[in-house]
Amino acid sequence: MEIKNYDFTGKKAIVRVDFNVPIQEGKITDDTRIRGAVPTLKLILDKGGALIIMSHMGKPKGKKKPELSLGQITGAVANALGVKEVKFAADCANADAEVAALKPGEVLLLENLRYYPEEEGKPVGIEKEDPAYEAAKKEMKAKQKEFAKKLASYADCYVMDAFGTAHRKHASTAVIADYFSANDKMLGLLMEKEVAAVDAVLGNIKRPFVAIMGGSKVSSKIGIIENLLGKCDKLILCGGMTYTFAKAHGGEIGNSIVEMDKLDVALGVEALAKKNGVELVLGSDCTATDGLDFGTMTVKPGSKIITCPANQVPAGFEGVDAGPASQKDFAEAIKGAKTILWNGPAGVFECDDFTAGSRAIGEAIAEATKNGAFSLIGGGDSVACVNKFGLADKVSYISTGGGALLEAIEGKVLPGVAAIKGE
Ligand code: 3PG
Repeated sequence: MEIKNYDFTGKKAIVRVDFNVPIQEGKITDDTRIRGAVPTLKLILDKGGALIIMSHMGKPKGKKKPELSLGQITGAVANALGVKEVKFAADCANADAEVAALKPGEVLLLENLRYYPEEEGKPVGIEKEDPAYEAAKKEMKAKQKEFAKKLASYADCYVMDAFGTAHRKHASTAVIADYFSANDKMLGLLMEKEVAAVDAVLGNIKRPFVAIMGGSKVSSKIGIIENLLGKCDKLILCGGMTYTFAKAHGGEIGNSIVEMDKLDVALGVEALAKKNGVELVLGSDCTATDGLDFGTMTVKPGSKIITCPANQVPAGFEGVDAGPASQKDFAEAIKGAKTILWNGPAGVFECDDFTAGSRAIGEAIAEATKNGAFSLIGGGDSVACVNKFGLADKVSYISTGGGALLEAIEGKVLPGVAAIKGE
C-alpha cells in the first residue's frame, strides 16, 4: 500500500520511527531524526488517524535504563508535531489500556522497544560459542514473533518510517509486518524520500560521480568501498584510514590511527581502483599534533601542531586532519562532479583546530551542488560537519541513516523495506 492512498480515518496506526537522537544532560542535541518523521506523522493525524509511535533509543540490550527512556522526548515530539500532548506508555509490551483510550488525532509514544531483548531477537547472556546458543537463539526468535504480534495487536495498520534502523531485522522494523495484510502496511514518507535519494545516487548516476569516504577504519567500510569502486569515477579516501594506506606502503605514521591487520585490504582497494579505472584520491599531507586531548577535544597547552606528508608523520605525533595540499586535491576532485556521496569526516572535526579538511570537502560539495550536482550526505559525523559549517541548505539531501544508508548504497535490500515490499 502507498501511504498517500491509505484512508486513516478512525484507524489506529502504529508507526516505527527512529527517534534514536543524541541526548546530553537531558537535552536533544540534534533533532534531525524527529523532524524527519514529522511529515508522515502529521499526514496520519491530518487524515483522521490516531498515532502509536514506537522507537528504540541507544543500546540498552534488554535492560530498562532510565537514561535511555523515550519518556524524556515526549515534549520535543509534541513540539515537532504541533500538538498539545504526546501520551506515553511506560511499558511498550503492555500498553493495551493506553491504546484503548487513544482517540483520532491523539498521539501515544511507546517506551524504548529495546528494553525488551525480543525487539532485537538475539539471546542475551550467552556466547555464540556456547553449545546451548542455537537453542537459545531459536527460543528468542519465537519470543520475538510474540513481541511483534503484541505490538501489531495495538493497531489497524503499520507504517515503517525508521530509515535509520531499516537495516535491522528487528521485531518492530520487519517481523511485525507479517501480522498485517498487504493493504494495511506501508512505508512512510521519510522512507520513500531516503530510498529515492539512494536511487538518485545509484540508479541514475549522472557523471562524474565522486564518492568521499572518511572515518577511522577502512575495515568497517570495505564493503561499501568495493561496491563504490564499481560505480564511481573518483573515490576520495580520507580521515583515519589514510594512515593504514600510508603504512601499507611502508610510510612512517607516528602515533596515527592504523589497522595493522588491514594493510592488505588497503592494497586490495588500490588494485581494484586501478582495475576499474577509478581515480583514487588519498591525502598526500596531513595536520598532526603531539597533544590532542580526546576527552575535551582540545589541544593541550604547549603541544605542537604541524603539517607533514601523510607518510612521514614524526614519532610522537598523530595525523588528525587533512593537510593543505590534500584539501586542495579533494576540492579539485569534487569540482565538476554531477553526483556526490559523502560519508565520514576528513579529520577530528569535533576539535576546532582540525576542521579544515572536512570543511574543504563540505564547501567543495556545496559549490558543486550550486553548479547542478546531486549531493547526498549521510552518517552522523558528516551530517554534524555539514551542520557545523552552516552548509545544510547547500547540499541536495541529508540522510537520517548511518549504517542503513551505507548498506543501502552497498546495494543490500534493507529488511525494513523488504518487509513491506516483499522483496
Ligand atoms: C543508528 O543510530 O544508526 C540507528 O538508530 C540504528 O541504531 P543501531 O546501530 O543501534 O541499530
